[in-house]
Amino acid sequence: MYLTTVEEKILSGENGEVMERMFRLLVSLGDIYGADRMIPVGSAQVAGVSYKSIGIPGVEFLEDYANKGAVAKVVTFLNPAGMDIEDWREMNIPPTFAEYQLRIMNAFKKMGIVVSATCTPYLAGNLPRFGEHIAWSESSAISFSNSVIGARTNREGGPSALAASLCGVTPNYGFHLDDNRKPNLQVDVQAKLEDNADFGALGYVVGKKVKNKIPYFTGIKDADTDQLKALGASMAASGAVALYHAENLTPEARFMKAEGLEKLTVTDKDLEETFSTLSTGKEPDIVIFGCPHASLKEIMTIARKLEGKKLRKPLWVCTSRMVKEASNRMGFTQTIEAAGGRVVADTCMVVSPIEDMGYKVTGVNSGKAANYLPGFCKQNVVFTRLDALLESVT
Ligand code: F3S
Repeated sequence: MYLTTVEEKILSGENGEVMERMFRLLVSLGDIYGADRMIPVGSAQVAGVSYKSIGIPGVEFLEDYANKGAVAKVVTFLNPAGMDIEDWREMNIPPTFAEYQLRIMNAFKKMGIVVSATCTPYLAGNLPRFGEHIAWSESSAISFSNSVIGARTNREGGPSALAASLCGVTPNYGFHLDDNRKPNLQVDVQAKLEDNADFGALGYVVGKKVKNKIPYFTGIKDADTDQLKALGASMAASGAVALYHAENLTPEARFMKAEGLEKLTVTDKDLEETFSTLSTGKEPDIVIFGCPHASLKEIMTIARKLEGKKLRKPLWVCTSRMVKEASNRMGFTQTIEAAGGRVVADTCMVVSPIEDMGYKVTGVNSGKAANYLPGFCKQNVVFTRLDALLESVT
């Protein structure tokens, strides 16, 4: 792999130990995947932020780097943390968990990384442009940026995204190259798609069947960005799909063709089977929306449906701090709180310790959350559409 003189110097340790280690990681990745050179990235997004995921070794690693002067070269956002950074006491987060989580956030902040704590950076102030090279590591955000925006990122791990953030570059391979962005499977959607949960169910079915491929969807008549984020998140979770195209909906689809590709058809029956397979529980003891983190439009929809109602059980809407601020200004947060629910920022149902908070059955409208909750949080799940979930708790 070609390295510039400046890059050779970083590798020889001239810019310090942290930079040498981080750059070496990028060079190793580049060598493994056959990259020809490093390319500059416009932004980075780092996963592995929750204390639940990285534990004490992760806290010590980050503090060590921060104390050695590591500083982000490009705008870098963080994935959700294990708790609402401001309202963790109201969430009943154990104090020891909170202490470690706050140390993690402080270490990132010291490195100049925006302590945004969201899986939807593109809704919260970090929006790449079409064709821009980036290094993101949250699977749903990778799918959204590659597919819906047309930016270019590989499926980075937390360490390689941090390395790209500190070095400002990433190796040029995989989804950064035109040839690797072509579809290799057509998905003909004959199912009716109305609710956002339908898109999550579709993503789950396709991800399960295609694993790592690049689907080209035909037959999706219309979809807004919330529905495309639900589709991509679910497909990334069930099949590691990092890029998809959808006819007349995503920007690169017009340059691609479905003809001649192997074809998979998805019907209403497939979606109903998915709802039933992923629903391992009957009555939720908490309902949580916002996987991926809710947009302002999603929060508005929930707030309007809860107007004047009283919840019988807890309900959270997870979102970014930035979107929550807008929701506060519009009074949506207050409407949800008046009904007995919460708008929770910085975290989500999967990375917060809900299993330690007494919950056993969680209701969700997200295919990704339905897929992850049993393994990550020992939860039974009710996976269904928005109105049915609201009915179950009002
Ligand atoms: Fe985001 Fe948590 Fe879902 S990180 S995509 S809300 S599992």
